[in-house]
Amino acid sequence: MTGLEVDIAGIRMRNPTMLASGILNETGRSMVDVAKAGAGAVVTKSVGLEPREGHPNPCIVELKCGLINAMGLPNPGIDAYLEEVAFAQNGGVPVIGSVFGGSEEEIAEVAKRMASAGVAAVELNLSCPHAEGLGAEIGSTPDRVKRICGAVKASVEVPVFAKLTPNTSSIVSLASAAEEGGADGVVAINTLRAMAICPELGRPILSNRFGGLSGEAVRAVGVRCVYEIFDTVTVPIIGVGGVTTSKDALEYIMAGATAVQMGTAVWSDGPGVFSDVCDGIGKFMNANGYESVEEMKGIAHR
Ligand code: DHB
Repeated sequence: MTGLEVDIAGIRMRNPTMLASGILNETGRSMVDVAKAGAGAVVTKSVGLEPREGHPNPCIVELKCGLINAMGLPNPGIDAYLEEVAFAQNGGVPVIGSVFGGSEEEIAEVAKRMASAGVAAVELNLSCPHAEGLGAEIGSTPDRVKRICGAVKASVEVPVFAKLTPNTSSIVSLASAAEEGGADGVVAINTLRAMAICPELGRPILSNRFGGLSGEAVRAVGVRCVYEIFDTVTVPIIGVGGVTTSKDALEYIMAGATAVQMGTAVWSDGPGVFSDVCDGIGKFMNANGYESVEEMKGIAHR
């Protein structure tokens, strides 16, 4: 690999940036647009077996330092979503299918159907911080993470990435469990469980009361998690949480990430963030004598 190219579990990417799940990935068309804007890969919306309406408004609170959202995992169900996933392949970059479910069997089934649409990998959402019986509710114990990864590995041929929750005393244990279960990579971090209250109303703002905090506010937590996980697991790590600039991406890479995902920055700055971040990484490499992203990976551990 030279320049900005990276390889994650055999998936070649032209640069180390990916669109994170949950933003601009409702349709195949929007994922193609993001690929054209420069992302090295796109992750789909998280989908389950059956359609879900999601939570009523308000679902998003904008803060100075990020966003809190509780969409409620709205999605059309895997079968209806497959045509969007198939269309997304027209972007010419790897498409990674994000799935969720309430049990090992259900997640394995959704992953299998997702894989049938030709995705390069599946990403398991084991970390939505506020969905009853889903996400972090089943992804917070190492034993369960290991079993889920094992079940999905047995049902698909493509690489499996486990997206982990930071809302735990030890994300490293979750990452190790994912690796033991056969996961080909881990994604750290999903959002932090959070809430906002409106003093005038004297009530929580989100209809769901609790949501997931993303953006600038969580970057230092994400970088710390990637750094800790890198010390323990050997599978590749995808860093996510508050990446807006090339400096942010470099922090994650030097902590040990092979690639980074961006979500909240796309919400605030638009899809142009992918080429901005990549240009900045390229300039940094030229100025500092690095020939590949791989060469910078984990160097903060020296
Ligand atoms: C939702 C899902 C997530 O994984 C997350 O981090 C935040 C919100 C949601 O759909 O509500």
